[in-house]
Amino acid sequence: MRHVLVTGGAGFIGSNFVHYLLGSEPDVQIVTMDALTYAGSLENLKDLPDPSRHVFIHGDIANRELVDCIFAEYEIDTVVHFAAESHVDRSILDPGAFVQTNVIGTFTLLEAARKAWLVDKTVPRDAVRFHHVSTDEVFGTLSKADPPFREETAYQPRSPYAASKAASDHFVRAYYTTYGLPISISNCSNNYGPRQFPEKLIPLMILNATSGKTLPIYGDGMQIRDWLYVDDHCEALWKVATQGRVGETYCIGGDNQPANLEIVRTICQILDELQPDSPFTPHEQLMTFVPDRPGHDRRYDIDISKIKSELGWQPRHDLQQGLLATVRWYLEHPEWVQAITQQSDYDGWMQKNYANRKDQT
Ligand code: NAD
Ligand code: TYD
Repeated sequence: MRHVLVTGGAGFIGSNFVHYLLGSEPDVQIVTMDALTYAGSLENLKDLPDPSRHVFIHGDIANRELVDCIFAEYEIDTVVHFAAESHVDRSILDPGAFVQTNVIGTFTLLEAARKAWLVDKTVPRDAVRFHHVSTDEVFGTLSKADPPFREETAYQPRSPYAASKAASDHFVRAYYTTYGLPISISNCSNNYGPRQFPEKLIPLMILNATSGKTLPIYGDGMQIRDWLYVDDHCEALWKVATQGRVGETYCIGGDNQPANLEIVRTICQILDELQPDSPFTPHEQLMTFVPDRPGHDRRYDIDISKIKSELGWQPRHDLQQGLLATVRWYLEHPEWVQAITQQSDYDGWMQKNYANRKDQT
């Protein structure tokens, strides 16, 4: 039986990971630790496949005493570390929270793992793993002609979010080289799917479109991301955490290159088909160009050949299938949308981020 600590497991990817792991691995016990910020919710941990193998602890990863207790009491041998402030736009408006959680919080977890595994030796060293979930945004931005990001690409973060994740990656790697802490890191592209907080592009566009609100496209909408369906990311993470080589980094992505405009148009077309009688059909009429994000990264692209060849992983969902499943999920879960938006001062965020972006169409 593995004893897995999932940090940030009440957020988007973390909660999908908890569902995935309980549903696919009978020999794991999971402790989820989450501070339940605006982005985390117990709504995301409802209807777990086997709740008897899951414990939830409400707490901050920067709380050393609490983290030490969790390692000792639950004999944690595997950490899958998701907890973070994760939204670029918020990092532009309030960078301090990103340093606190992403840097200090990660450092605190590393210290707790070092003490438990290397000093107190609660679990044999060859049976432990600290897996750090990171982003391709640490690599910066690409021009059209640049080759994709690879594991060896130099870090060049450009937003406070990306800088804080880069700092956390450096700490994780330093704990491997300095102390021999058994770590792995994955740098993944943009995720989408069920239970994503509707501040990010895809759920925001789905919810705005279904309620007849404008679809705010930053700049010219020609920025390019690589998009990965969240279940595929979860599968990749477990492979890296359990089969990936200690001390190594793995790039993860969906192997696609759509511009934001293409994503928004596809969502509109899916909604037109699923809701032909909506007063907002055709939904593309709601698209609105608004002033760009400062320092907006132009293009991400990620080379997944290492994880493919070493671990035999590749994405199962293509973008069209994944977007259709995602739109359907949001349409079928109005009670989730209501609970999440009510508990988090969502209207306040929309006002703060969009009120000063005047329509440029
Ligand atoms: P999210 O914002 O949906 O969830 C983050 C979770 O962490 C929330 O439940 C929140 O309550 C919790 N949290 C925040 N601060 C905390 C603290 N101090 N202590 C404990 N819990 C805390 O984020 P997400 O999109 O699920 O991303 C998860 C991880 O994956 C992050 O580390 C992010 O950098 C990384 N990542 C995300 C994407 C993406 O597209 N969303 C892509 C690549 C990597
Ligand atoms: P986002 O989901 O915030 O992820 P990230 O910034 O981490 O890539 O944004 C994805 C892309 O969508 C990014 O290029 C910014 C753009 N975007 C918009 O055009 N309008 C919006 O309202 C949002 C939230 C994002």
